[in-house]
Amino acid sequence: MLIAVDGPAAAGKGTLSRRLAEHFNLARLDTGLIYRTVAKKVLETKDPENNKIAIEIAQFLSLNDLDTNGLRDEAIGTAASKISAIPEVRKTLLNFQRNFAKNPPNGKVGAVLDGRDIGTVVCPKAEFKLFITASSKIRAERRFKELQDRGKEAIRSAILRDIIDRDERDSIRSVSPLLPARDAQILDTSKLDPDAVFNLALNFISLKI
Ligand code: DC
Repeated sequence: MLIAVDGPAAAGKGTLSRRLAEHFNLARLDTGLIYRTVAKKVLETKDPENNKIAIEIAQFLSLNDLDTNGLRDEAIGTAASKISAIPEVRKTLLNFQRNFAKNPPNGKVGAVLDGRDIGTVVCPKAEFKLFITASSKIRAERRFKELQDRGKEAIRSAILRDIIDRDERDSIRSVSPLLPARDAQILDTSKLDPDAVFNLALNFISLKI
């Protein structure tokens, strides 16, 4: 069983994917974390603007690297969005993601992958594709609350700006832009709580099983 969950930043992909993985006993890969890990490692080098370094870091990435602290910071998200537009970085990470989907760890019989291009590029043959979205204002508000809950300082207007910029960068890049697959079920979560989103997703999946 393979479930692809795509959508823009802070739309609720993570919460939904975690719940789907638990419900169906599947492995889960948050592919945003992959780009965030590469971005964090690149920022730690002396030459963060050097694409060659980013490509090399992507080549040597392992699943254990995704446990690093601080990956959820806004600055890392922005850096990840920039690095993810480098075609060679995407090409390298494509193998990593496909390998996870094909050979899920811990003996699981399937996987949930969430990101921006899972249904379109990484796993175009996934049986179940969901595209989760919400208005930029609502997503910014959710991210603001999340940061507050984690005890981080946050400015509402800056978060909204960041979300809008990130949406644009992720959508206009030449390789694998943020886009719903033609056979994806689109879920606008603006007016839905996590339970309602989960139930709608389950409904969609059960209709296809
Ligand atoms: O989902 P996220 O906010 O953790 O993702 C961080 C950035 O990584 C996002 O702005 C774009 C990039 N990304 C991508 O290009 N493709 C994916 N499948 C996942 C994330």
